[in-house]
Amino acid sequence: MKVGNLDIGNKLFLAPMAEVTDSSFRKICRDLGAGLTFTQMVSAEGVIRNNFETLRHFSFNRSEKPIGVQVLGNNPNILGEAAKEISKQKPDLIDLNCGCPVDKVCSKNMGASLLEDPKAIGKLVRKLVDNANGVPVSVKLRLGKDKSRINVLDTAKAVDDNGASLVFVHARTRADRYDAPVDWTWLKKVKQAVKIPVVGNGSMFTPAEIKEMLETTGCDSAMIARGALGNPFIFSRFNKLMETGNDPGMPDVLIVRDTILQQINSLKNEFGDLLALDKAKKHSIWYFRFYGSINFLLDRIFSIKNLDDLRKLIDEHTENILNKNLNVDEQTEINKKFQKKVLFWLAEESAEVFG
Ligand SMILES: Cc1cc2nc3c(=O)[nH]c(=O)nc-3n(C[C@H](O)[C@H](O)[C@H](O)COP(=O)(O)O)c2cc1C
Repeated sequence: MKVGNLDIGNKLFLAPMAEVTDSSFRKICRDLGAGLTFTQMVSAEGVIRNNFETLRHFSFNRSEKPIGVQVLGNNPNILGEAAKEISKQKPDLIDLNCGCPVDKVCSKNMGASLLEDPKAIGKLVRKLVDNANGVPVSVKLRLGKDKSRINVLDTAKAVDDNGASLVFVHARTRADRYDAPVDWTWLKKVKQAVKIPVVGNGSMFTPAEIKEMLETTGCDSAMIARGALGNPFIFSRFNKLMETGNDPGMPDVLIVRDTILQQINSLKNEFGDLLALDKAKKHSIWYFRFYGSINFLLDRIFSIKNLDDLRKLIDEHTENILNKNLNVDEQTEINKKFQKKVLFWLAEESAEVFG
């Protein structure tokens, strides 16, 4: 699978996720075999105004390459200027967000509302390509506005015809948000309709599901969002499955513990103690949702006040799991909630903001 001239082989993409794909998480996913990770989405206006938070969101370390930067906007000139700025950082990909379904974004005619006008998308892509100084450009699409207005073949062709290097397709409509079933038949149709590589996205939670999507649709690769939360191992497991035909399965809980502790140290360096604590709690719950006795963790984690106490709780919880103090039902319940509502952690409103 090629991203411009870069060959990432059979590997997967880590999707852009606001408040999640910070450098600490990206590094873990990359070390575990993700082919390309994304920084958090940034607004094109924020980029050209040198907004501090925006700059922070799309900055990355050289060692994180291959990496993509996703941009939100609808004005060709502003997007062009933003592409110039972003390309100075030399990312491997600049992606245009045409998937964000939230009203706040769509009412400004950005994100998924752009889907209604394939020609306009084509113009934006052309502008990005012309200004990106050779950095490949992609677009992240949904199928269309709703099930009666699916136009992904038109939008994908507009992306292809205007010089983009690849297209991501989240196999749901804007109206579907996250909980409607994905429709892979459209991924296959897009793959047959365009010349550039097509990367499928949406509700793949295991290596077997990813493989099935690739085989069913002919897509060149897959992009993983929720399937990687608390589960960056999905990348190494998928790579193993492709190499050997066998999925090694979820890792031992001691490996999970070490990975969380590594992420916590990295978050501390990236954000400082206070912000890191909040992020580390969220990720810890995600990591442990695959193992038993999650309520033990949930009952205690919210009152934790510092990173040392969080580390102690993680050790204690790991011991519980090792001692087989399991309650499988709880675990199933939390996974159901997770897949349905995206992120029980976030307030409803912010959980629905993106992609
Ligand atoms: C916490 C969170 C944040 C997200 N932020 C973005 C974003 O900034 N840009 C974007 O294009 N999609 C965003 N998305 C959507 C994902 O990239 C992806 O398209 C969607 O979750 C479907 O894939 P999945 O089923 O693998 O989760 C976000 C999703 C989640 C769960």
